[in-house]
Amino acid sequence: QISTKDTKGRNDTAPYLYGLMFEDISHSGDGGIYAEMITNRAFQGSNLYFGTTPGLSGNMIVGSENPIVPAGPVLTGWAPIGDVRMNLDILHPLSDALPTVMQLDVPAGATGEVGFLNYGWWGMDVSPQDYKASFYVLANAPRYTNNVTAFTVSLRSNLTGEVWASTKISNVPVDTVDYIQLNATISNKATAPDSNNTLAITMDASQVAGQTFYFDLISLFPETFKNRPNGLRKDIAEAFYDMKPKFLRFPGGNNIEGLSVQKRWKWWETIGPLKDRPGRIADWNYVNTDGLGLLEYLEWTEDMEMEPVLAVYSGFSLDVWGQAGTSFPESRMDEILQEALDELEYCMGSTSTKYGALRASHDHPAPFKINFIEIGNEDWFSSTYPYRFSYLYKGLKAAYPDITLISTAYNENADYNITIPAGGMWDTHHYEEPHYFLDNFNFYDNWQTSTNNEGVGVLLGEYSVKQLDSPSGVINWSLPGVPFPQLISAIAEGTYALGGERNPNTVKMSSYAPSLINTNWFNWTPDMISFNADPKQTVLSSSYWQQWLFAHFRGSQTLPVTNTRGDFRPLFWASSINDAETEVYLKVINSDAVGIPLTVNLDTSFKSVNGTIITNSNPNAYNTVEDMEAVVPRKLNVTSTSGKKFMWIVPAYSITVLQFDI
Ligand code: AHR
Repeated sequence: QISTKDTKGRNDTAPYLYGLMFEDISHSGDGGIYAEMITNRAFQGSNLYFGTTPGLSGNMIVGSENPIVPAGPVLTGWAPIGDVRMNLDILHPLSDALPTVMQLDVPAGATGEVGFLNYGWWGMDVSPQDYKASFYVLANAPRYTNNVTAFTVSLRSNLTGEVWASTKISNVPVDTVDYIQLNATISNKATAPDSNNTLAITMDASQVAGQTFYFDLISLFPETFKNRPNGLRKDIAEAFYDMKPKFLRFPGGNNIEGLSVQKRWKWWETIGPLKDRPGRIADWNYVNTDGLGLLEYLEWTEDMEMEPVLAVYSGFSLDVWGQAGTSFPESRMDEILQEALDELEYCMGSTSTKYGALRASHDHPAPFKINFIEIGNEDWFSSTYPYRFSYLYKGLKAAYPDITLISTAYNENADYNITIPAGGMWDTHHYEEPHYFLDNFNFYDNWQTSTNNEGVGVLLGEYSVKQLDSPSGVINWSLPGVPFPQLISAIAEGTYALGGERNPNTVKMSSYAPSLINTNWFNWTPDMISFNADPKQTVLSSSYWQQWLFAHFRGSQTLPVTNTRGDFRPLFWASSINDAETEVYLKVINSDAVGIPLTVNLDTSFKSVNGTIITNSNPNAYNTVEDMEAVVPRKLNVTSTSGKKFMWIVPAYSITVLQFDI
């Protein structure tokens, strides 16, 4: 029985409930949503093609997680074309941030086409659109005898050498003192049959034989989401946008912390011209270029109309995996607070402030609005969080009293002396077996009172089914996760999310994690969206569709539901009503192997019923490149279409939203 008339029994739903968690893991950023198509574009280091990289075999991801630490400056991803010698050079740095460049010697007797190519992030998609190429070039003074050179920039098949499209940059006066940056648009009309393609930059040996050049920051962008320069890969960004996410939590996860204090995510090294961003060996054992930096993250939230949930460094770095980590001492927490305050000034300050003016100089004079700040990530790993949290909490609150501050731990196990003040939030992470989420459907029902956290909200910041139910009942971290989210994963995660929906005064936000995986090189499975270089092979998982479904049908108030079934399980449900009071939603999950008869009585007449369902007779079904629609939302055919009563058999293993038009 759903009551629309008992308005006292309603609660406002949590306005930001469904959102996105993003950190660069499994090449989700570089080689992922960051649309740059060139791998190792500034010779910062790369693990690409090194050692045994994990990959896909049939429908299964194979190989080990957390593979190899990247080699230092390398030429990985690059190959010479024609009669040239290609080396790394550190005597002609492009900038302090990018000290290693490619030296290209063209021998005196060279003939024909000479230059180099890049293989991309395990390939490059070539489809009809305009590509933007750019690179920096310098010539060696004694060896550079020509004062003009022509460069041809082309997209080619790596298999047949066929040129899909090319652009010539003629009469370039390459300098011998300062690098010049060249830009070219490649207007491509071809559709390459696969993504085994390259970007080639070539010269005519008759013009340059006997000469030496230096190249760096060689870049290629396809058309991006909302046409942002240095922006996001369209297909992945569109999949996110289509989920109607309300917030983006960034830049970590572990990836904010650093494998050392020195290699932590330093916001000030991720902004400004790309040539001034050094990048770093990041937490997930590969180089981050930081081309997707603080401003790009903020613009991402702007372009998808999301709330930024900005994680600030909290004075703790992980050290190499498995070690205890390094904490800033209490006596130096002022430095960490200042880092965060400067970062916030960059985000929110007016153009008359130092960092607000810096942001304006990066072409974004309008300040962003930050309403949520997370202090660190998973600090229950560290015994020093109490003093770090307390120092940062006080300092940030004094400067920005209206911002909601999120703690990553509290004294749940009496391990910490942390009390999250009312108005604050707790970010909790769960990588679990399906049963955990089903068992904990009610976890937030009385959470505030039973844990002495009156007035504290919860961010379900990372959660997903990592492994299937096992005899031990708990995750075995030495085993890999399931390769792809299964229907049973979505059912379990959806049940946990429903538990959150029923407690909007506590659970304010929730996001699946990790969100993306490049299937060519990964750290973690399962993930919500998997992809490779070919956008036609981007797979939206069952977990994606569960999040999509719940986010698409958000009421603005919860509705009281009474039932004659007794307790929840194997059926779970929650109901809400939209702002205009024209639609009642009933979300129903059947976690059982058999259909369950359901009678819904409304206290008001409905004109029609529609439904959207995610189901499959096999609870272990999942979407793959070969079958992208094994577990997707489908329109439900309902027979009883008006009145006050609706009868239906909820299919086995299903997630449904019923929509009553009132
Ligand atoms: O989502 C992957 C990792 O899991 C995150 O970086 C970390 O916060 C958690 O342990």
